[in-house]
Amino acid sequence: MEPVLVTGAAGGRQGSTGRHLTAQLLGRGIPVRALVHTNDERATTLRALGADVVVGDLRDLDTTRDALHGIQRAYFTYPVIDGFLEATGAFAVAAHEAGVERVVAISQLAAGPQALTPRMRQHWAAEQILDWADIGAIHLRAAVFHENLARIADTGDGELLTLPMGPEHTELPLVAAADVARVAAGLLADPQRPCDPVLLLTGDVQTIGDAARALGRTYRDTDPATWHRWALDFYRSPHAADHLTKLWEIFRLLGEGTNRYQTTPTIEQYGGHPPTTLEAFATHRTPAH
Ligand SMILES: NC(=O)c1ccc[n+]([C@@H]2O[C@H](COP(=O)([O-])OP(=O)(O)OC[C@H]3O[C@@H](n4cnc5c(N)ncnc54)[C@H](OP(=O)(O)O)[C@@H]3O)[C@@H](O)[C@H]2O)c1
Repeated sequence: MEPVLVTGAAGGRQGSTGRHLTAQLLGRGIPVRALVHTNDERATTLRALGADVVVGDLRDLDTTRDALHGIQRAYFTYPVIDGFLEATGAFAVAAHEAGVERVVAISQLAAGPQALTPRMRQHWAAEQILDWADIGAIHLRAAVFHENLARIADTGDGELLTLPMGPEHTELPLVAAADVARVAAGLLADPQRPCDPVLLLTGDVQTIGDAARALGRTYRDTDPATWHRWALDFYRSPHAADHLTKLWEIFRLLGEGTNRYQTTPTIEQYGGHPPTTLEAFATHRTPAH
């Protein structure tokens, strides 16, 4: 059986979707070619799991061509840092040349040409690029990862979750990164399975107050400029700090909605089991994971 190429396979500071996916595919007996950016202990762990690890930069066309050689199914992810559309372009060209038949790519829930953060607009442009490449692209438009909130909750004094989201009844849609990976695994394990080219993935809807409590914290509002300064230091990426500050502001402006966000059937349909709630995620996770 030819391998599935998984990018972002080492995992990183967002949800580590590629790491979850690699483990899930290998667990199903599907060989994985794991593209990692850094040849460190995370790569060693992937090799120990049985992945064929290749090291490279997705923005580099030669690397991406080599990684996609002989591949028919692939997962595409790139972190919330600069270089996303460069990487998408190189991946689209190389995947088209390789004759890839199905690509599952991570996107964001509100991706669109008029979306309110630059990264969301980039995600929409990335979707167009992958579609034009004619590589069977399926875009997973995911809500906020549980891991994203949990990582922020892990900072500070162990008591507060500080975000610029306004009152504690402000709502936000959430999803576990492992569930996103499960959907990708389902689609890549059976590449002939028909599927809409865009799938919305929301596994839980919480107020920020309840979300903080699920993570063992008390929610505290702050102003966007203060949080942005903190995020610049924490993420060490203006791209991530700008995107996330704006994202929390959007939720704050939308406030408390009646059925504004809804859990989606797609997680169970393609991932094989019901979505992981934030509460269940918080119960089973290890801190800083
Ligand atoms: N966070 C959220 O709440 C959320 C919600 C919805 C959608 N998303 C989307 O999810 C995506 C990120 O997901 P994720 O969980 O897979 O990210 P992640 O956990 O940050 O992992 C990203 C991986 O990409 C690797 N990488 C970095 N630069 C690279 C390069 N130039 N070439 C090849 N690989 C590179 C990193 O390796 P190194 O660590 O070695 O650099 C890391 O292993 C983004 O597109 C984001 O917009 C995020």
